[in-house]
Amino acid sequence: MQTPPTSLCVTDKTGCHQAEVESLTTSLSAQRITVLRAVRAGDFELCFSHKGLVLQENGGRAESILVDFASDTFLYRLQKGGGRRQPLARAVGLQPGYSPLVLDATAGLGRDGFILASLGCRVIFCERSPIVHALLHDGLARAATDPRLSAIASRISLYAGDCRALLPALSEEFQPDTIYLDPMYPSRSKKSALIKKEMRMIRALVGDDHDTSALLQAAIEHAAKRVVCKRPIQAPPLELSPQGSDRERQPDFAITTPKHRFDVYLPLSNKSAPLHPVAH
Ligand SMILES: C[S@@+](CC[C@H](N)C(=O)[O-])C[C@H]1O[C@@H](n2cnc3c(N)ncnc32)[C@H](O)[C@@H]1O
Repeated sequence: MQTPPTSLCVTDKTGCHQAEVESLTTSLSAQRITVLRAVRAGDFELCFSHKGLVLQENGGRAESILVDFASDTFLYRLQKGGGRRQPLARAVGLQPGYSPLVLDATAGLGRDGFILASLGCRVIFCERSPIVHALLHDGLARAATDPRLSAIASRISLYAGDCRALLPALSEEFQPDTIYLDPMYPSRSKKSALIKKEMRMIRALVGDDHDTSALLQAAIEHAAKRVVCKRPIQAPPLELSPQGSDRERQPDFAITTPKHRFDVYLPLSNKSAPLHPVAH
């Protein structure tokens, strides 16, 4: 269900990332993204800057996206976000002495998954937009070299592609306890200006996620302990795939915040499965 931009330019403002420009150009082209050699007004531009890989609209509004886990805002969120009792953590199933292995099936810019990794979870990121994947890959690589964040980054692995294809291919070692979904939703809520700006650009890149019912169905079939779906507070629960046997299913419970709701589904076959404590 991807609607990537018809054209995009990869540039280097630093003068020392030419090899990376070539490598990213090759990998985007292989994924059917048209990479322009010269940037035109209105085109998206992926630019290697001194801060990192930045997505911007050339000649458009002065908007850009950089995945920066070391920004003041994000560091504050990591430190003051409520720790293991925050709604996101409770929704995915963190308990004293227990940190689930989480598959973040819709990784996006990686904020939710990075918070879970900061709380001790091993997290597998999966992102199907090659452009969003490139931004996230760059942000994680910088986090891995930052002494404040490297231990967190070491708990994260990143996969490119559609999570529905990844799920059946995961080895025993990577079978997720919890699968976390945060698909695109055409929200009209008044979010912070920064989030709105980033989401506007991400939506222009990936479109709305119209196949989330099938993803939810696949997640329920593969999660060992639970599936969590983040929804805007006013949105109904996701519908399950009409082909699935349990399409009438509703979430088993939900955890709400003023803006969001985390709908939690307990896979039917595992509702009484014991918890296996893992070190963190
Ligand atoms: C709203 S964003 C996720 C934001 C993320 N939770 C964060 O904290 O930054 C949704 C992302 O999920 C990705 N996505 C949607 N369906 C997917 C699928 N089936 N497999 C992999 N990625 C998917 C989209 O490309 C988009 O980047």
